[in-house]
Amino acid sequence: MKKRFVIGNWKMNPVTVDGAMELAKDIDGLVDKLDLDKNKIVTIICPAFIGLEEIAKLSLHSIGIGAQDAWPGKSGAFTGEVSMEMLKSLGIQNVILGHSERRRYQNETSKIVNQKTQSALAHNITPIICVGEEQKGQGESVAAQLTESLQDLNKEEINKIIVAYEPVWAIGTGDNADANYVATVITSLRKAISDLGGNGEQIPMLYGGSVNAQNASEYANDPQINGALVGGASLDVEEFNRIVKAFA
Ligand code: PGA
Repeated sequence: MKKRFVIGNWKMNPVTVDGAMELAKDIDGLVDKLDLDKNKIVTIICPAFIGLEEIAKLSLHSIGIGAQDAWPGKSGAFTGEVSMEMLKSLGIQNVILGHSERRRYQNETSKIVNQKTQSALAHNITPIICVGEEQKGQGESVAAQLTESLQDLNKEEINKIIVAYEPVWAIGTGDNADANYVATVITSLRKAISDLGGNGEQIPMLYGGSVNAQNASEYANDPQINGALVGGASLDVEEFNRIVKAFA
């Protein structure tokens, strides 16, 4: 079985650093008890920037840490931004890029996602690249979004990414996509990667969009789907733990 990933995207939650540290410790404690083989399943939490440094210092035992975004440049006059270099200085090893909320509210394009992806890889940070269609029935448009996000990467670089397929209509709506449908889109994403010279069959392909403890096994049972990017349900320790268990 391919390595699986369950990634919690905390978005702009919790409000305090103390709250974020508690959540991180609680999740780590429960995942620790599952005693999972890290070569088979990896759990990652992606807190908001203000909590990253303190959470990185906790030296969590059983889960990894990721950021929710970062700027491609090294340093300089980019008010409000945080660079990959800065993430690296904290030992952060993963970064979500191109989440649909950033595409929508920050007008982030696949071209920008491409620059960020290149920068992440140059800093040995794993990019978790999000793609997904706005409306139901537009699933065939997603491969082009991924191709654009991966322009000019060589095959070694492409083979280091993680892809999260997140139909926008399924995010935070409770209207999770059917696993067969997800598998069909993922198949098109694997082909897009192979067309770029990467190893489409080996790239971890995650599903995101209203994943919860009830529906997680539906995705875990499909061999095309290698994990989940979880938003709302990742803020509930027990619920998130059950999702991790479903993929274990
Ligand atoms: P959701 O969010 O699980 O709350 O739908 C998923 C995401 O935005 O990554």
